[in-house]
Amino acid sequence: MNILAIESSCDETAAAVVRDGRTVLSNCVSSQIEMHTIYGGVVPEIASRKHVEAVTALADQAVEQAGLTCANLDAVAVTYAPGLIGAVLVGVNFAKGAAMALDLPLIPVHHVRGHIAANYLTHPDLEPPFVCLCVSGGTTAIVDVRSYTDMAVLGGTRDDAAGECFDKVARVLGIGYPGGGPMDRLAAGGDDRKYDLPQAHVSGHELDMSFSGLKTASLNLIHNAQQKGEELDLPSFAASFGRAVSQSLVPRAMAASRKLGYGKVAVAGGVAANSRIRADLQAACAQSGDKLFLPELRYCGDNGAMIGCQGYYEFLAGHTAGAELNAYATRDI
Ligand code: KG4
Repeated sequence: MNILAIESSCDETAAAVVRDGRTVLSNCVSSQIEMHTIYGGVVPEIASRKHVEAVTALADQAVEQAGLTCANLDAVAVTYAPGLIGAVLVGVNFAKGAAMALDLPLIPVHHVRGHIAANYLTHPDLEPPFVCLCVSGGTTAIVDVRSYTDMAVLGGTRDDAAGECFDKVARVLGIGYPGGGPMDRLAAGGDDRKYDLPQAHVSGHELDMSFSGLKTASLNLIHNAQQKGEELDLPSFAASFGRAVSQSLVPRAMAASRKLGYGKVAVAGGVAANSRIRADLQAACAQSGDKLFLPELRYCGDNGAMIGCQGYYEFLAGHTAGAELNAYATRDI
């Protein structure tokens, strides 16, 4: 089954063709990062307009690179939630038009389910159930992946997402947008204990997290240093920050795994590319005996292949939509 998949939830327009859920025939991404860098973050209206400009050519390119024509497609899958609403709407409307014109089933895919599915593309042996730590620019959640299409959020951030926190701190440091990658690279030469940054303990639910305190403490530390004319040890600051984020995420993911007892832990989303988090998960799983699944770096950030993969399993479960399909800025997983 060849699925044309469309993703446009934030600042990347993506189109891919995936065969039978696990074989990526093409994976085309058009990034808008350069445009949004000027503003230090994603400007929603610009994002929507750029998706409109890119999506048709990108879908054509994905079909061509797959060595197929539209006649070889069997379904169209699309991210319908969550994301910047105007941006998601572009993909949904394009996919709707394509599905209707080609007389193909239309498959709505939840963006976070797509991120989780990126692991199936990297690990042919991975099957649910497993615990997945989902960390991106908009989401920070620990998910019980009971089956390909039955999932429950066990805990998550009460405020900022981990990626958002990386981005805001990096912006104040002036090291680029999006900031997670540059912070990660900067941290490589640093002392992760030099700066004492807080890790919030959220009362009421052991698997919930909070990143707003870490963000504020980091911004205050940077501001105070600037005021006093002191030079921050940037690599050590980035390393201390990475440690604080990882120490909020990893123990909770492992606690969830202990609770459910599947013996399998995965990580997903743009922040899953972070080397500190990957290393800490590796160490924790080596100790606990859980099998760890890390997605390939090319499938961590937003892409169409992950939507095509999850779309296949949604189709098998009978989850298709008609012309009434809408886009949603938020939606339960
Ligand atoms: O999954 P993604 O591409 O978009 C969303 O669905 O949100 O994630 C983007 C986020 C950004 O916040 C970016 O700074 C972060 O992923 N990110 C990283 C790294 N690479 C990307 N965060 C930490 N370390 C990285 N290496």
